[in-house]
Amino acid sequence: MLGVAEVGQLASATDDLDISLVVSNAGTGNPGEFLKLDRQLLQASLRLSTMAHLDITHHFGAKLAKRRRGGLILAGAMGAETGVPYMANDGAAKAYVHSLGETLHYEFNPLGVYVTVLAGGFTKTAVPEKFGLDPKTMPMKPMSVEQCVSEGLSGLLKNRSRPAEPHIERPGARFSCAEDGGRLA
Ligand SMILES: NC(=O)c1ccc[n+]([C@@H]2O[C@H](COP(=O)([O-])OP(=O)(O)OC[C@H]3O[C@@H](n4cnc5c(N)ncnc54)[C@H](OP(=O)(O)O)[C@@H]3O)[C@@H](O)[C@H]2O)c1
Repeated sequence: MLGVAEVGQLASATDDLDISLVVSNAGTGNPGEFLKLDRQLLQASLRLSTMAHLDITHHFGAKLAKRRRGGLILAGAMGAETGVPYMANDGAAKAYVHSLGETLHYEFNPLGVYVTVLAGGFTKTAVPEKFGLDPKTMPMKPMSVEQCVSEGLSGLLKNRSRPAEPHIERPGARFSCAEDGGRLA
C-alpha cells in the first residue's frame, strides 16, 4: 500500500533528479454493494485515492514550484463529483482528487506549475477485466490507453484544469467522459 512511508521513500529515491512532470496515477476500484464491502478494504482504497495524491502533490508540488516550471497530472475518475453507483467510496475518494487538482490548478499557476485532473472514463486497462466487465457487451466502447494518456498530456500542455472532453464513440451515441461527468448524448 502506498502510504506516508512509501511516499517518503519515493521522495528520497528521486531527491537528486530534476523532475518536470509528475503523474499521480495510483488508484483502484472495488465495485459492489456498499454494505457488503469490507470496511478495511474501503479504508485502504480511500487512503490510496486521497492520501497518496495528497502526499505526492505536496512533496513534488514544492519541488516543481522551486524550479518555477513543471506539470502535475492527477488521475481522477469520470462522474466522481456526482457519485458512481455501486462505487460510492471510490467515487467519493476521486471527488477529493478532483477538488484538490482543480484548486491547485489555480494556486500553482503563478508558480509556473501546471496542474491537470484527468477524470478518465472507461479505459481499456486491466481494470474492466478486474471488475468482471466485458467491453464487448457494454453499451460503450472503452477508450484506448493511448487516447486517454494523449488527452491528459495535451490538457496539461494547454494548462487546462481538465483535458478537452474525451469521447467514447459508438453508433448512435456519444459518451463524453471528462468535463460533464460522463453524459450520454
Ligand atoms: N481504467 C478505467 O476505466 C479507469 C476509469 C476511471 C479512472 N481510472 C483511474 O485511472 C488510474 C489508473 O488506472 P488503470 O485503469 O491504469 O488501472 P491499473 O492498470 O490497475 O493501474 C493502477 C495503478 O495503480 C497502482 N496501484 C494500485 N493499487 C496500489 C497500491 N495499493 N499502492 C500503490 N500503487 C497501487 C498500480 O500499481 P501496480 O502496477 O504496482 O499494481 C498501477 O500502477 C487509477 O487512478 C484509476 O482509478 C481508471
